[in-house]
Amino acid sequence: MAADVITLIKADHRKVEELFAKLSSGRGDPRAIVAALHALLTAHARAEEDVIYPRLDAHHGLEQHKEAEVLLDSLKRAEPGGTEFAGAHALLAVSVSHHVQEEESTLLPLLARTTSERELRDLGRTFRQRRQQELRALTWKARAASGGGHLTKTELYERAREADIPGRSRMSKKELEKALARARS
Ligand SMILES: [Fe+2]
Repeated sequence: MAADVITLIKADHRKVEELFAKLSSGRGDPRAIVAALHALLTAHARAEEDVIYPRLDAHHGLEQHKEAEVLLDSLKRAEPGGTEFAGAHALLAVSVSHHVQEEESTLLPLLARTTSERELRDLGRTFRQRRQQELRALTWKARAASGGGHLTKTELYERAREADIPGRSRMSKKELEKALARARS
């Protein structure tokens, strides 16, 4: 039987907490942990925004997601071990734990009260699909950012098409690489 959307959302929250604990413990590569946090939080937020919030008129959650995105961005740019990194990490941890607490104490119980079990499972399916779609797009972006140089011209063109880069059909391989790099920055 498919998992209901509340179970899936809570599972994501536990994973996020694990990643924060790992980052605080100083074990593992901080850059890799931040990248995993970024992917998970972004995919989770998009899926919640598309599948859950419209049903509950939860505008406040959107603001929390925006705040988390800004902090995630600072965390990604900061040097691990530095004060900026520590500051962004601390703020993000507070912001996310507030979001998790609020959802689990108010939003999800409301969803449970107002939605049938069958519907919760249908929502779960949609949530999972939306989340996976977002994760795939993020992995694609990360791969393009780290290893765009070894791609063939056809692959570069395909990426330029997805990024909707104008004039791509007339570009050389080098020009496509440059345009993609510019689109990413
Ligand atoms: Fe959430």
